[in-house]
Amino acid sequence: MTAPALALPASIAALFDDALRDRLLELRRALHAHPELSHEEHDTSRRLIEALVALGVRDVKRCGATGVVARIPGRNPGGGAIAIRGDIDALPITEATGLPFASQTPGVMHACGHDVHATWAVGAAALLQRDPAERDVVVILQPAEERGDGALAMIEQGALDGVGMIFGGHVDRRFEVGRVVADAGPLAASADTFEIELTGRGAHAARPHEAADPIVGAAALVSALQTIVARRLNPATAGVVTVGTLHAGTAPNVIPDRATLGGTIRAIDAPSRTLMVDDVRRIAEGVAATHRLDARVTFERGTPAIVNPEGPIAIARDAVTSLLGESALVPLGTLNMAAEDFAYYLERIPGCFLRIGAREPGGEFVAAHSPKFVAAEEAIFVGAAVLASVVRRVPRETELRGVRRPGGR
Ligand code: NI
Repeated sequence: MTAPALALPASIAALFDDALRDRLLELRRALHAHPELSHEEHDTSRRLIEALVALGVRDVKRCGATGVVARIPGRNPGGGAIAIRGDIDALPITEATGLPFASQTPGVMHACGHDVHATWAVGAAALLQRDPAERDVVVILQPAEERGDGALAMIEQGALDGVGMIFGGHVDRRFEVGRVVADAGPLAASADTFEIELTGRGAHAARPHEAADPIVGAAALVSALQTIVARRLNPATAGVVTVGTLHAGTAPNVIPDRATLGGTIRAIDAPSRTLMVDDVRRIAEGVAATHRLDARVTFERGTPAIVNPEGPIAIARDAVTSLLGESALVPLGTLNMAAEDFAYYLERIPGCFLRIGAREPGGEFVAAHSPKFVAAEEAIFVGAAVLASVVRRVPRETELRGVRRPGGR
């Protein structure tokens, strides 16, 4: 294939010869054209394995049904490996980018840039194969990030066995190619979901005094839940309680006997997370009692928050400035209340998560998860170069304690 001219900083372009550049572009385009949903990434993982093997990576294994783990030997192995993680799944969205390599699968699209994440992880493997890190590097190609359960599945399958530190990143079109966010502190929120079932007594809509009306109770509850963030959470911290579903009733002249609400709770620290979960329950039960209803409240605990620690983020910042200069580092400039299941790795081992600029020069902002989202191809090379450089810069004396699963190898 003839690759287009890429608008890459010279320091990055110099790391990729034509053959490697074309191979990575081809891989990304193939992944983008053939997106697969969470846990269905069979073709995707096959393509990734083929690409790794073609680049000379010898130790490539499937991990679970659709995950892949590759190991690139270090110069001086021992004392724990370092991991690079790229997620690989797509979303149930019909693509509207008009790209020549747009999705060929109706209703499925790489609208979050995971095609680029997978490709930059393969690119980092290629760079590390040529110029190894001190320690072994494990490249984790993880399914089902969008479902939020892919990282845990990979950990259960042993992807972190012997790994003592991990790095990853996400494309971000708010920033031009060549800019990188490597901030210590919160980068993604925890995400827990709740369901509240209000049960009352159904009756004729014309005789409300004979009912215990769950619709009026649900309406009061939606409003009352807003007071958690407004009145209970410390204003200096961030939190979200959103009611995303509300179902009740079947006819205009009937008061139903139940209503159900569902929603999400986002936090960036554990005390706020606990406070909001406890308050959703307390308020649901209190409002239900006020309206002579019963409340059944259930929670599903989801992804924890990502809070980048100082040590690993300092290594990442060094890598970025040495490759791209001081001006490449940009602040996130906002608090991201979306979730990212990379957090499960950071619950177990140190590491950090970056945001990597993916807007082509002069391009416009397009939100991730939109049918028009596309990450600039140049981001592949920045991501690969930055991640390879980060793992090479982990100081030799850093003590890494590899993870061992209970009963694992
Ligand atoms: Ni994503």
